[in-house]
Formats: sequence, structure tokens, C-alpha cells
Amino acid sequence: MKYLKSLFDSNREWAERISREQPSFFEQLSKQQNPEFLWIGCADSRVPANEIINLPPGEVFVHRNIANVVVHTDLNCLSVIHYAVEVLKVKHIIVCGHYGCGGVRAAMDSDNHGLIDNWLRHIRDVYRFHREELEAIEDMEVRKDRLCELNVIEQVSNVCNTTMLRDAWSKGQELAVHGWIYRLEDGLLHDLDVTVKGESGT
Ligand code: CO
Repeated sequence: MKYLKSLFDSNREWAERISREQPSFFEQLSKQQNPEFLWIGCADSRVPANEIINLPPGEVFVHRNIANVVVHTDLNCLSVIHYAVEVLKVKHIIVCGHYGCGGVRAAMDSDNHGLIDNWLRHIRDVYRFHREELEAIEDMEVRKDRLCELNVIEQVSNVCNTTMLRDAWSKGQELAVHGWIYRLEDGLLHDLDVTVKGESGT
């Protein structure tokens, strides 16, 4: 191969190691996927879904974008949710943000970041909804971290308001939506306690 040989070498070692440990792993996984979880997270390279929850291939369906935003007109994200809910019938959707998120930070400054500012607009909206609470926090680092949390909570609400979730819950499908946040400094997840299990909001 001509390019990125180190990555192919690394892939081969990984596949060989798994095959050694579980000889039928890839063959079985190739027949179907049956994940219980949909993970909606940030594209940040330091927040890889499977590694953080220590799950092997096949266990978690994943959608990632900058700052883990769920936009009602984003066909990409909506299609992932649709497939996860209606075909895979996942039991849990986890929106996972992280402290120190570059997208959230960029949404709080007045610099020109180019095209991405259109995407970050959604986070600026979250800021606007919670301006009073946020501006009462004097420490800018704490304020940014709080916006990371509020952004997750807002996106949980956006997931819950999609037609797919409403339809699933109206049919009595077992499905919960959770909001989590990850800390880069210690590798630990925290539950923001905003889990929604149905239209009753409990
Ligand atoms: Co991020």
C-alpha cells in the first residue's frame, strides 16, 4: 500500500489480537449488529465513544459532530436517530458532551471562525436561552463548563422532540434519553440527571 502504512499495520495488529482472543468475533459481528445504545457525541478526537465506555465494536451506534448538537433540520443526525430507534431499536440514547469543548468555547467568543460559525449559532442560541444564569457566573472557565452542560441538556430535549422519539414513545417502545458529560482531565463520565423515559418527561 502507498499511504499511511502505519495505520494499516496497526489495524492488522488489532484485528489479529481480537481474532486470537475471540476467534469467531468478526464472523459473528458481520452477520448483524444489535447495539442497545445510540451515542450522540462531539467529534473531538479525545472523546471516542467506544473507548470511553469500554465497549467493543457492535455495542454502540454512534453519531458525532462538532459540539454534539441535534438540529431539527440536520438530515444526517435525524437519519441516525431514525435508524437507531426504528430499525435497531436501541434502548438508550446518550447525548454526551465534554468540558473544554472547543465548539462551545468558540460559540462564546466574538471571533470570526468562518463557516463553522453557522453551526455554532445553535450553541449561541443555548447561551441566549440561559443568559441570566450564565452571566451570573463570574469565572469564565466555570461559565464555559456550565454552557457545555446546558448544551447537552438542550440537545437531550431536541432528541426527545423529534418525530421518531414521539412516535416510539406513543407506541410504548422502551427508550430512554440521557444527558452525560465527560471530563478530559480524568476520563470520567458524569450523568447530568436529565434522563427522559417517555412523553411524561419522567
Ligand atoms: Co467538543
